[in-house]
Amino acid sequence: MIKLDLRRALPFLDPAESGRFRAEAAAAHRTLLDRIGEGSDALGWRDLLRSPDPTLLEEIDATAREIRERADVLLCIGIGGSYLGAKAVIQALTPSFTPPAGVPEVLFAGHHLGGDYLRNLLAYLDGKSVYVNVISKSGTTLEPALAFRIVRDWMNSRFGDTDERIIVTTDPERGVLNEMHRRHGYRKFVIPESVGGRFSVLTPVGLLPIRAAGIDAAALVRGAADGCRALEAEEDNPAITYAAVRNELLGAGYPVELLAAFDPRLGGLQEWWQQLFGESEGKQHKGLYPSIARYTTDLHSLGQYVQEGQRILIETILLIGEDDAGFAVPALDDDVDGLNYLAGRTLHAVNRAAYEGTAEAHADGGVPTLAVEIPRLSAEELGACLYFFEHAVAVSGYMLGINPFDQPGVEAYKRNMFRLLRRQGR
Ligand code: PA5
Repeated sequence: MIKLDLRRALPFLDPAESGRFRAEAAAAHRTLLDRIGEGSDALGWRDLLRSPDPTLLEEIDATAREIRERADVLLCIGIGGSYLGAKAVIQALTPSFTPPAGVPEVLFAGHHLGGDYLRNLLAYLDGKSVYVNVISKSGTTLEPALAFRIVRDWMNSRFGDTDERIIVTTDPERGVLNEMHRRHGYRKFVIPESVGGRFSVLTPVGLLPIRAAGIDAAALVRGAADGCRALEAEEDNPAITYAAVRNELLGAGYPVELLAAFDPRLGGLQEWWQQLFGESEGKQHKGLYPSIARYTTDLHSLGQYVQEGQRILIETILLIGEDDAGFAVPALDDDVDGLNYLAGRTLHAVNRAAYEGTAEAHADGGVPTLAVEIPRLSAEELGACLYFFEHAVAVSGYMLGINPFDQPGVEAYKRNMFRLLRRQGR
């Protein structure tokens, strides 16, 4: 279970205010549990953890096994909530460079409109055995729809059995992917009606690519379900505390939250968090702006701003408790670089010192600093962490008085883009 460390945020909190925010967070938590808030028809992400469907996991397992046996590459086509969860988990739990033996490389497309990326991707795929998982709840999102059109055309020119190699993940009934599933017999997984994109990592949206990447998807779901049960309590609930503290700090004049991580494996999780919080909270001119930084890399760029720029930031630092690399600094006879004082210490220990030093410096410099620690980077603990943030954003959104489960604001750019594209098409 994740640990929340508030030591370096407490000096920025006002005890009288904290009590009020804590009470508001507890009320928002009850609103979530009692299903009486706005968007309570979109709480399927909790329901599927409270009564998991074992046959779905078996079905995912069988399809993922086939992909592992037959594919060099699984290409996942989707954007936003339809790809960030899988990317987060796969980046966290698989080796950084090459996938383990017997596991396909999982690549992503359809998450932007870069033509050069797609052209290069197809060149890279040439000669490889490719499976495609196209993921879109609506089926109408332009970025994945265009990528799928191009990739499908390419697949048809390369494989005699394209229809067997394409798997769609979409709405139970509606949308063009359902039509394609009917016409071509593509296999289909369903995104439950009551689960929005950014809350869908533990549905087939995330679980099929995650399982195909050789990760124990059942353990991920189990960890999230344990987290879901644990966070039903009102006392000692870190999701309530996190929501309360960030809202109090927002009210105290800190409108930006920087989620910083000290391990590059958490980069995808940071992007997932950014979408979860940005799309859930940024409404009616409210909410903290969610931004991310990768430490120690960004201590050599953004670090200057964090330390001495405008005092608008709160910083939440993501940590991994246990060292799973055991990678130690070697001793050198000539100590030419003067680093023998670190010999025998693990990079994890050095990184931990970098964290302590950074958190202390940033808090001393006027940045309220929180830490969220994942005890170890396992499927179970990552599942619990995913649920922690989902629960926290729901509570935090209700505290703000908005519906955390819709995203009306993303329609504005689409309207303009389609207007311009139709006009150009004439
Ligand atoms: O969280 C959300 O609902 C969005 O980010 C969607 O996942 C994203 O816009 C993609 O939508 P769709 O799956 O309908 O293509």
